[in-house]
Amino acid sequence: MSFTAPAPSHLAYVPFVSVENMMALVHAIGIDVFLRELAEYLEADFRRWPEFDKTPRIAAHSAEGVIELMPTSDSSLYGFKYVNGHPKNMKEGLQTVTAFGMLADVSSGYPTLLSEMTILTALRTAATSAMAARYLAPANSRTMAIIGNGAQSEFQAIAFREMVGIHALRLYDLDRAASEKCARNLAGMGFDMTICDSTEAAVENADIITTVTADKQCATILSDNMVGAGIHINAVGGDCPGKTELHRDILLRSSIFAEYPPQTRIEGEIQQLSPDHPVTELWEVIAGKAQGRTGKGQITLFDSVGFAIEDFSALRYVRDRLEETGLYEKLDMVADPDDPRDLFGMLQRSKMAAAS
Ligand SMILES: NC(=O)c1ccc[n+]([C@@H]2O[C@H](COP(=O)([O-])OP(=O)(O)OC[C@H]3O[C@@H](n4cnc5c(N)ncnc54)[C@H](O)[C@@H]3O)[C@@H](O)[C@H]2O)c1
Repeated sequence: MSFTAPAPSHLAYVPFVSVENMMALVHAIGIDVFLRELAEYLEADFRRWPEFDKTPRIAAHSAEGVIELMPTSDSSLYGFKYVNGHPKNMKEGLQTVTAFGMLADVSSGYPTLLSEMTILTALRTAATSAMAARYLAPANSRTMAIIGNGAQSEFQAIAFREMVGIHALRLYDLDRAASEKCARNLAGMGFDMTICDSTEAAVENADIITTVTADKQCATILSDNMVGAGIHINAVGGDCPGKTELHRDILLRSSIFAEYPPQTRIEGEIQQLSPDHPVTELWEVIAGKAQGRTGKGQITLFDSVGFAIEDFSALRYVRDRLEETGLYEKLDMVADPDDPRDLFGMLQRSKMAAAS
């Protein structure tokens, strides 16, 4: 008598978006449309912020980096991201930040999506920064300085062009080769680009300063004298305890906006301030409960560290694009026997099938 292995139920299969398919998805949609649509998902989730379970991310620190889990859920979907941050990786030919993430059905607990998130994190970070800038940056901002021209930088530039109207970029990196790479990648995309020799030169006449460097220390990428009245700072690279980019005096002159203050006070620029220093939650600005930019001379600071809800929004966006594009594989990920109590029987039948 021969046995056949039990066929997995349809619930066993979880859609999986590989790096290859994520890249194909971005190109099929177009990166500009992708960023704009992703920002719409982000805004929708920021508007319903109180509906989410929230917790600062769970971090495992080591001498050289950090590995973090970022969970959140609403009443129907659960999501989490695994992400690392290892600034020394770049010099070893590895990414500073890599990530993957999942969505699951709250009512059954079954996973419903597994996705690469290294590329998706760069897209969601840029879309979140540009979304924040729409509420916080000076009206008619055209020029942005980008300090740190590594993996995240081009994504930031394109999101700010699409959503804020940035057309001039002033690039600076400790390593000029990084700025040259950034300028090469963005060539032909409508930017007027200048590679600068110092941060001071890069921030000259900028409406927005994006800091997106990687260094495992409290660095002073921007000192107080570099920041003029009326500017918007999009501070992305300071996102871990003991890892900041701005001089404390800048923070004292700025109106500070944060994603989830209990996490930002641990990881963001504001770790340099007292725990009760006033900050405004970005979701409140987006939901019309708090004011964003209120005056011409005001310095606004988005103290970005990256929060789980942004990854949740990004995964929702990707999930909703899969049926129309077919850019996924099915992973046989959930053991789901027909008789839920007969998990062992399913295991045994597969052995008999393999032997026959
Ligand atoms: N806030 C968020 O949501 C979020 C998301 C993703 C990444 N990040 C952070 O953004 C940072 C950049 O990430 P990446 O993937 O682009 O890293 P990367 O290693 O690819 O690039 C970092 C760049 O910064 C440059 N740099 C380092 N110190 C500098 C200095 N003092 N002045 C000028 N340039 C300097 C390096 O030469 C390098 O080119 C990291 O710190 C990462 O943790 C934050």
